[in-house]
Amino acid sequence: MISRLLLLTYLGCVAGLHGTPPASLSGRGVVAARGQPQRLRSRPVVAKAGISKLRSKLVGVGSCAPPTRVTNVDLEDLVDTTDEWIAQRTGIRSRHLLAPGETMSELGSKAAERALEMAGVAAEDVDLVIFATSSADDLFGDAANVAKLVGATNAVAFDLTAACSGFLFGINTASQFLHNGAYKTALVIGGDALSRWVDWNDRSTCVLFGDGAGAVVLKAAATDDEAGILGWEMHSNGAGRKDLNLCYSGEPRELGDVATVTSGTYDTIAMNGMDVYKFATTKVPKVLKEALAQADMTADDIDWVVMHQANIRIMETVAKKLGVSMDKVIHNLDEYGNTSAGSIPLALDEAVRSGKIKKGDTLAIAGFGAGLSWGACVIRWGGEPL
Ligand code: UT7
Repeated sequence: MISRLLLLTYLGCVAGLHGTPPASLSGRGVVAARGQPQRLRSRPVVAKAGISKLRSKLVGVGSCAPPTRVTNVDLEDLVDTTDEWIAQRTGIRSRHLLAPGETMSELGSKAAERALEMAGVAAEDVDLVIFATSSADDLFGDAANVAKLVGATNAVAFDLTAACSGFLFGINTASQFLHNGAYKTALVIGGDALSRWVDWNDRSTCVLFGDGAGAVVLKAAATDDEAGILGWEMHSNGAGRKDLNLCYSGEPRELGDVATVTSGTYDTIAMNGMDVYKFATTKVPKVLKEALAQADMTADDIDWVVMHQANIRIMETVAKKLGVSMDKVIHNLDEYGNTSAGSIPLALDEAVRSGKIKKGDTLAIAGFGAGLSWGACVIRWGGEPL
């Protein structure tokens, strides 16, 4: 009964989004209703824990980075590094850092206000706010505070922690609520201030990260709407935590004779750069292909690739493995470095506002990072540039 329901939901969704006759399932693959055999999917559609096409469209984007800008040359005074090493190995030339008194909530809310303005959506019409961050001002979560700051007084708000994959996981999560009809409008913010958590004496990590936030407004899409999430996929593997983590570190504290607990804070970021590099260049092309397959597309159908801005060499390798020209890969890590959950919307915002990405363009978006976690979605951009 459940699998029958899933099948019906999927078929209705496919027919609705593309206005094409629903496909019928045959064996492990999909055969078109018109009798035209289609290429087999990489795996059966109904076996996915959900549905691949979501009636949820991205209609506005905004971003915010703190004004303090630190160049590679500035870092030469701090650790044993050079502008040349950082630029050649990563593509990063500068990063923006939160100053004392500046907060993640402020960065997130400014990005959100800009996204709402572009979308032409009033803050009080937002039903759901998701703040993807691993460096919140408040360990209990910043999303409710961000919702308050932007005036999203009718929204439910919660944080989502998935490191550099957080924004991607956030839009896929919000889109489920929009697709199933629970909510009409959502705000997904991704942002991090990893300057709070890097070891500023460790040249292998401190040169990589910067602070920033970006946000998108998502609206429930009509069944005949061209814009939407056309395919998506997410993964995680806790066995990879050893390669990238920011772990709690508490000292034992005795509570009289009653119990011993721990009190403390978090360590600094620990990363096995080479293994994370290998993970990213292996898993990201694969998950992009999975999301494209869910969308019944190939890399040739993509107008733009927007992926987590960790290293330009990772982007070049992913583009090569996908068979996509670097001209189609949006990147701005030279200016901002790796802003973790902020990096995808920061890059997206710049590309939309510069007029590169236009309404109706097909975007393949990929996030990856600690967890380990990785995921992708294929979307048709639904917003106009301002
Ligand atoms: O957002 C989360 C996901 N994170 C990532 O995707 C990061 C993925 N990893 C990477 O991007 C790269 O592995 C790094 C940029 C982190 C490192 O680049 P690499 O080419 O893998 O360098 P390496 O770690 O193999 O180090 C090569 C050399 C070492 O020296 P020796 O042992 O060859 O003498 C390092 O000590 O470079 C040295 N090194 C540096 N030298 C100057 C490491 N960091 C620096 C530095 N400046 N900042």
